[in-house]
Amino acid sequence: MNPKQAVTSGRPAFFLFDDDVNPPMNDLDQLVAQACDDFAAAPTPAELENAKARYLGKSGRVTELLKALSTLSAEEKKSHGAQINMAKQRVEAALQGRRQALADAELETQLRAEALDVTLPGRLRGIGGVHPITRTMERIEAIFASMGFDVADGPEIETDWMSFTALNNPENHPARSMQDTFYVDMKDDAGRWLNLRPHTSPMQIRHAQAHARRYAGAERMPDIRVIAPGRTYRVDSDATHSPMFHQVEGLWIGENVSFKDLKVVYLTFMQAFFETTELKIRFRPSYFPFTEPSAEIDVMFETGPLGGRWLEVSGSGQVHPQVVRNMGLDAERYIGFAFGSGIDRLAMLRYGIDDLRLFFDGDLRFLSQFN
Ligand code: DAH
Repeated sequence: MNPKQAVTSGRPAFFLFDDDVNPPMNDLDQLVAQACDDFAAAPTPAELENAKARYLGKSGRVTELLKALSTLSAEEKKSHGAQINMAKQRVEAALQGRRQALADAELETQLRAEALDVTLPGRLRGIGGVHPITRTMERIEAIFASMGFDVADGPEIETDWMSFTALNNPENHPARSMQDTFYVDMKDDAGRWLNLRPHTSPMQIRHAQAHARRYAGAERMPDIRVIAPGRTYRVDSDATHSPMFHQVEGLWIGENVSFKDLKVVYLTFMQAFFETTELKIRFRPSYFPFTEPSAEIDVMFETGPLGGRWLEVSGSGQVHPQVVRNMGLDAERYIGFAFGSGIDRLAMLRYGIDDLRLFFDGDLRFLSQFN
């Protein structure tokens, strides 16, 4: 048996035998051991720094020992100094170790707090959809495009001339009143208040004028065949009227366009829009300043919840010669028809909705049903 391990008292045996090589726990060793204990006991970085100050600070215990060297002889200074410095290095190493341990622990806690369960189902970002009115407009555009109609777009803030005068509205027509039309606090070149267009009919004029200009010198002008869907505004608000609503204007002008064409075009449109041939349309005499003769177009479904009743869907008529002239065209040569239909109303009929305001309330529970 190795005598060095013969006697044990919990400490390594060599402390008992190799005193000269490995001196027993001297003051310095104790100091280091104590520092290690203190550091280990510090629960936070701040407390660790306090503990550090007690050993390595300006009047810390290690620092004091180093200061005391000055009282020793040169010989003693050397050996003691070396020992103290070694002790100091061990204290510093212990400090560094504890710092790292605390930092690791903190990181660990943080990571645990921010832990992600990657197996949870993702939170889906809501996917937007097409608004039912936009959807309806796109549908109308596709149907008319298939019949050779262009699609035009124009300003929602209009001049008085475009909204009224060019459309043959007399100066004192009630549609011009503030009870009916929204005005913008700004005047046009003619010194007239601008308005939020109360119908899409100004687009008849704008589009026809542009068309007339484009073919001004040509021998023959191609027919004007266009629809203009868009937002319109009127001072009106209840379950079936909104101050902002949508219309689609239709216009077909040529040398030989008649009411018969209007009838075919509108019937074809209705059948395509409602996806049924089981419906009838009728033209009911009416009055608009910009058409002569004028008619309301009614539709009747043969079956279904709305079946058997005439439902008004559009105004229409043969474009008034004065309006043809205002388009920049020869009223002796060109003739045609126009119509203006409520898009919101068509959407309500198609989807079976009885309150127009649902379209504009922005309630996703309602709107998301259309996508
Ligand atoms: N602009 C009319 C309105 O808003 C609708 C209308 C009627 C348009 C007859 C037309 C038309 O083009 O020919 O009430």
